[in-house]
Amino acid sequence: MLIHLIHEKRDALKEQNQQRGPHKDLITSLLSIRDNDVGKQEEIATAKAFEEALTWEDLTKMRYTWRVANEIMRINTPVPLSFRRSKQDVEYGGFIIPKGWQVLLFASMTHMDDSIFQNPTMFDPTRFEKHASPPPFSYVAFGSGPRMCPGIEFAKMETLAMVHRLVTRFSWVLLKKDESFKRVPMPKFDQGLLARVSLLKETMVSNEA
Ligand code: HEM
Repeated sequence: MLIHLIHEKRDALKEQNQQRGPHKDLITSLLSIRDNDVGKQEEIATAKAFEEALTWEDLTKMRYTWRVANEIMRINTPVPLSFRRSKQDVEYGGFIIPKGWQVLLFASMTHMDDSIFQNPTMFDPTRFEKHASPPPFSYVAFGSGPRMCPGIEFAKMETLAMVHRLVTRFSWVLLKKDESFKRVPMPKFDQGLLARVSLLKETMVSNEA
């Protein structure tokens, strides 16, 4: 079933000639990459027996999935703000921040700065390709500098494993596709983002996923 969906999506992308353009959903995003990378995703999914664990090597092949995750965290930054205290007078943008003042950093505003991220409201995981990587201190979902999140590699591992399982072991449909959300300040869906999730049959997963 998944393979069928992948081929269907890939054909549609070819027809629209959008392979490298902005993408709207996860599967379309996963497919809108170089054939080489698509091959890798399929290879990982098909080579596994049911319940077989992912290896470190498998995770290192999921480069595009991590770009998708980074783009999600750019747009919906999980930790949207953090605090610092100035150790000396600092001039920034024509203002003096006096020594000892507390500074509130808004990662989510940096992520929406169109001088750093062109068309910031557009979902485009190709921003994180090697040749296009944002400059230092621009993508700050995990903070930056000496107090940067030490859990980044663990978070990456969990994210990649979860996404892989979600798309290969389950079928899932959103029950209300146009559901809106508010920031309070974290994103909160109006109806809790209801989805119907079903486990794919064991045989279907091992033969076709
Ligand atoms: C998607 C998952 C995660 C995100 C987005 C995230 C984000 C962040 C951010 C923005 C900071 C503040 C960095 C700064 O002030 O510059 C932080 C700090 C921290 N994170 Fe994470 N984190 C994640 C997962 C984890 C995990 C899995 C662990 C541990 C296993 C972890 C442990 C920590 C610790 C201990 C700090 C404090 C570091 C310090 O103050 O020196 N985080 N994280």
